[in-house]
Amino acid sequence: MRNSSAVCSNRVSSSEKRRQLNWSMEQILMVFGAIRAANKPMISFRFVERGFGLRVTLLVLVASLLIIGGCKPATPTVQYAPMTTVRDVMKSIVEPSADFLWDSVETIATTKGTEKKMPRTDDEWLEEHEHTVALVEATNLLLIPNRHVAKPGERADNPGLEREPQEIEAMIAKDRATFLNRIGGLRQASLKMLTAVEARDVTGIEDAGGILDKACEDCHTTYWYPPDK
Ligand code: HEC
Repeated sequence: MRNSSAVCSNRVSSSEKRRQLNWSMEQILMVFGAIRAANKPMISFRFVERGFGLRVTLLVLVASLLIIGGCKPATPTVQYAPMTTVRDVMKSIVEPSADFLWDSVETIATTKGTEKKMPRTDDEWLEEHEHTVALVEATNLLLIPNRHVAKPGERADNPGLEREPQEIEAMIAKDRATFLNRIGGLRQASLKMLTAVEARDVTGIEDAGGILDKACEDCHTTYWYPPDK
């Protein structure tokens, strides 16, 4: 909505505006001075043709209008960019959120029969919702281009059982479409979870939990676990 000049004029107070106006008047006077000077060249060599003064006039005029009319070019705004690695997003957001949701609904067998563990109070449902939102939005974090899989020098926790991060990164770079497809799987699963949580639908949460598990595995079998020897 806002262009750069709107940003400039919107932000200033009226006293600031008055100061800017005075400043502009001074500049306009300077421009006229410059134009008069340009039209009366002090040097009168032969190569100073007649058009020279006019061209200088136009140049000074355009440059001054740019200075007076525009504000400084908008300072670059902050851009989205990966700040941490896929491993960090997994450990800090994806896994804790998914674990919370998987553990939130359970059928527990007791000596007196079965007991259902599920969110019951408003606070518990609120917490359920918070973890689901984190999971849903983690898919956006994974979509940000150029995120490294792990920090330089970080190795697989279980070499031989897991691919090395740089190997995974090369696979993703070579075929990004497959990576995007797997993120899409995670997004679909977590959106199903969100719908179920917002409806306080416990069976829906259990179903979404199964789909979520498959979405994790689909991506991990593609990249993380090397093919069986
Ligand atoms: C789009 C692909 C993708 C999806 C979907 C995905 N992961 Fe991952 N995950 C990865 C990659 C790639 C790694 C390997 C990173 C590394 O080398 O540490 C990983 C690693 C992990 C790790 C290990 C981090 C470590 O200690 O090294 C955990 C835990 C994890 N994922 C949990 C999950 C869970 C839980 C889900 C589902 C809710 C999930 N992931 C969904 C791509 C994915």
